[in-house]
Amino acid sequence: ADGLHPPSYPFPQKKLFGTFDHASIRRGFQVFKEVCSACHSLDLVYWRNLVGVAYSEDEVRVMAEEFEYTDGPNDNGEMFERPGKLTDPIPRPYANEEAARAANAGALPPDLSLITKARHGGVDYIYALLTGYCDPPAGVEIREGLNYNPYFPGGSIAMAQNIFDGVVEFEDGTPNTASQITKDVVTFLNWAAEPELDDRKKIGTKAILLFSILTAISLWVKRNRWHTLK
Ligand code: HEM
Repeated sequence: ADGLHPPSYPFPQKKLFGTFDHASIRRGFQVFKEVCSACHSLDLVYWRNLVGVAYSEDEVRVMAEEFEYTDGPNDNGEMFERPGKLTDPIPRPYANEEAARAANAGALPPDLSLITKARHGGVDYIYALLTGYCDPPAGVEIREGLNYNPYFPGGSIAMAQNIFDGVVEFEDGTPNTASQITKDVVTFLNWAAEPELDDRKKIGTKAILLFSILTAISLWVKRNRWHTLK
């Protein structure tokens, strides 16, 4: 069976001229880093992508340096460990699929880079899924190691609930309720999947303005040049 249809949530980037809330992207990355990155990779996002979007260059450099990356070979043909740089990708939690499945009772946590575009329902589905865990209805048996979630197609999902009130602490003083934390991480994931959204919306607005003016001019020209034919 398909999952329950998610409600439509008022994310600003969904509106016609709406763009991302960048303070929300910043909080959302914190949620990804502190919660989701324990199991999910984010292969298409590099540290440098966060610069100017949600963090300053210095802030990103400090975060990247907290991780060790294998590099090389050096002049002696050896691989070596070094701290992360802006040009490195966000590190993966597991070395390969086998290790990922072994740590998750056989299930594979998908890469989250494009997840808001890959799943039917997009941001609304992800938000509903993350906040939708509840007890199964009477008579519904959930297999050991799986969790009931009415928004997940089939109803049994290998991922347990991860977001609870207070699970992260925001530096900007934003209340850390489960719904706020979820909104922020979903906004971050939407940005990861569509980093061009803000530019697209801004150029679209200019295009509509420009073509409106050109249409007005051409209507005016038509009335003036062709009025003798009326
Ligand atoms: C699946 C998001 C944290 C393990 C998923 C899916 C999403 C997601 C969107 C895909 C659901 C679908 O296929 O429709 C997140 C977010 C997290 C988070 C935003 C942080 C807030 C975690 C953590 C773990 C985990 C910490 C491990 C302890 C899994 C697994 C699946 C999954 C195993 C596959 C589920 C299945 O196919 O049954 N997650 N996740 N996730 N996640 Fe997470």
